[in-house]
Amino acid sequence: MARFPFGIPNSWYLVAYSDELEKDSVKALPYLGRNMVAMRDANGAVAVLDGYCPHLGANLAVGGTCEEGAIRCPFHGWRFDGDGRCIEIPYAKRIPQGARLPRYPALERNGMIFVWHGAPDSEPFFEIPELPEWEDSEFTKRWLRFEWVVETHPQEISENGIDFPHLQFVHHMDPVEEYRLRFEGPAYYWSIGVNKTFSTMRDYHDDFTMTGENWGLGYSLIRQRGRFDTVVVTSFTAVDRETTCIKLAVIARHGDLGEQELQAELEGYMREHAAVAEQDFPIWKHKRYEPKPVLCESDAPIAEHREWASQFYVDSASL
Ligand code: FES
Ligand SMILES: [Fe+2]
Repeated sequence: MARFPFGIPNSWYLVAYSDELEKDSVKALPYLGRNMVAMRDANGAVAVLDGYCPHLGANLAVGGTCEEGAIRCPFHGWRFDGDGRCIEIPYAKRIPQGARLPRYPALERNGMIFVWHGAPDSEPFFEIPELPEWEDSEFTKRWLRFEWVVETHPQEISENGIDFPHLQFVHHMDPVEEYRLRFEGPAYYWSIGVNKTFSTMRDYHDDFTMTGENWGLGYSLIRQRGRFDTVVVTSFTAVDRETTCIKLAVIARHGDLGEQELQAELEGYMREHAAVAEQDFPIWKHKRYEPKPVLCESDAPIAEHREWASQFYVDSASL
């Protein structure tokens, strides 16, 4: 039996950073149960297309090249523009009907590239918000990045985000006595204040407050004020129905430190926090989704979260 009775949720997923996709470059995006390829079209806008050529099925992300905003297949040289239309067959005058690659909705925002997963021909029903800190000169200018592939499902990670009692047992934090949590449309918002010594971190103590918002089942944003004032974006990018690529990205306020000095310090600081995230993985990897959980009065609002999450499966395209 499958551990997770879901398809891939209809949501935005972080698939790459803007600086990983230069003009006239091609990037493989092996996510969302698809083989996708990204490039920049003639206007510099990100285009995400299906990665298999409709001619004889070559993988455009392996050896394909981008010329003037159109991708050329490595097998017989057919060229496709940002809309996925074939615009050139070097050895034929007429372009056959159907010579077209499916195009997926993409959004470039806050130095990140997102792809929408949804039912065929349906439109995204929310956006990833702009981040004022990304434009703020007081913040670092490059996302510090961490990445893991874990055998779990985005909904499980989202549910874990509101499961405050687990912080005590998996992350060895003091009990969270107070939190705020509000579900609203495609988002939920939460905050906790934590005064913590993490047992996993040698001599490490950080008093911090966290304010978070999640948009859909693929995107989480946390503002954490502690030793550093940080913005942490985490994407739960589904690879397939049972595998998720977790991408965690951080910017921080400079304070008294210069950009380089801060980047170095921030890396060490975030490595410690990344180690905390890793504590969840063995649980996630081996657990199953319990459709009818037995809950106690002090548990998190799991049922409310599940009802909220159900909106992301309407007409969901299954694999
Ligand atoms: S398979 Fe792509 S041009 Fe032939
Ligand atoms: Fe956790």
